Amino acid sequence: MIRRVALLPLLAAPAGCGGLQTIGGREGRDAAIINDLFTIFCIVTALFFVAVMAFLFAAYWRRKGHRRDGMPDPLEVPARTGALRIALAVWTGAVVAGLVGLALASYFTDRSLAYPNPGNRPVVSIELIGNQWWWDVRYHFQDPSKNFRTANELHLPAGSPAMVYLKANDVIHSFWVPNLAGKQDLIPGRVNDIVLLPTKVGHYRGQCAEYCGLQHAHMALDVIVDSPQDFARWMESQSRPATTPATPRQIAGYDFFMNRQCSSCHAVAGTRAGAGVGPDLTHLMSRKTIAAGTLPNGTGPLHAWIADPQGVKPGTNMPYIGLNADELHNVVAYLESLK
Ligand code: CUA
Repeated sequence: MIRRVALLPLLAAPAGCGGLQTIGGREGRDAAIINDLFTIFCIVTALFFVAVMAFLFAAYWRRKGHRRDGMPDPLEVPARTGALRIALAVWTGAVVAGLVGLALASYFTDRSLAYPNPGNRPVVSIELIGNQWWWDVRYHFQDPSKNFRTANELHLPAGSPAMVYLKANDVIHSFWVPNLAGKQDLIPGRVNDIVLLPTKVGHYRGQCAEYCGLQHAHMALDVIVDSPQDFARWMESQSRPATTPATPRQIAGYDFFMNRQCSSCHAVAGTRAGAGVGPDLTHLMSRKTIAAGTLPNGTGPLHAWIADPQGVKPGTNMPYIGLNADELHNVVAYLESLK
């Protein structure tokens, strides 16, 4: 019984579990290919499991029946060697065919993952840099004046391949958006890459998949697959510089941000804050979450995060600054103007 219950999620996965972050997802080309392989493995191994169990129970009932009817135990009756040989040959053939079939399916899956359709050239180039514990996201274009930075959120156009270059600043991380593709490591001192080809508009969740320290579990990123029109709109808005603060509170927050600790780590395009140590905040309010998926984005979570980063995410490099209530409200008001 335990075994059957434990198998249920495995069998349900290829059948299409929903969700932001699921290995059953088929919303990317690679994920669909990997899922097909998983389904083939499930079916073939399930068939063999059923066959082995059927033979086992048939033998058991046969022996029991013989005993009940006072017939000799089948184990003590000399086997009909001809029939036994044929049965053995058929069974061995089935096992070999099954194993060879699975090996071939695995080989061709690997081939199609390693060699994406050459006619389908990546149209988006993204540099994704892993940090303890957040994702630095840099979009690169032929015209470098259009380049922009964001953090912990990846936008991709549906139906177009995106080339993602993976780097790491400190330790090894691993980029994994199970709905779209398999994993790829981010290794300090080298550049890995992965081509993502999302096929369905939606909101998905990526997660660092290599233990990288205290807050490894809080190193997530939102992945939003847009229609080509929405993606163009998003790119256009992200490449604009930040809005200028308007209300007295926003201006006070801006002054604090520029003259105190904030600007020594964060960048806001169009201002003199240009540091690359922490996430770029130019269009912070366009993002769904803060602190790499730790909290939803909004007034309350921003207050909590800035007032006590170590309480929200112990070990984070975001320091406790000790703002008074007024300064905290001002800084949050300024951040909330960064649409
Ligand atoms: Cu980064 Cu785990």
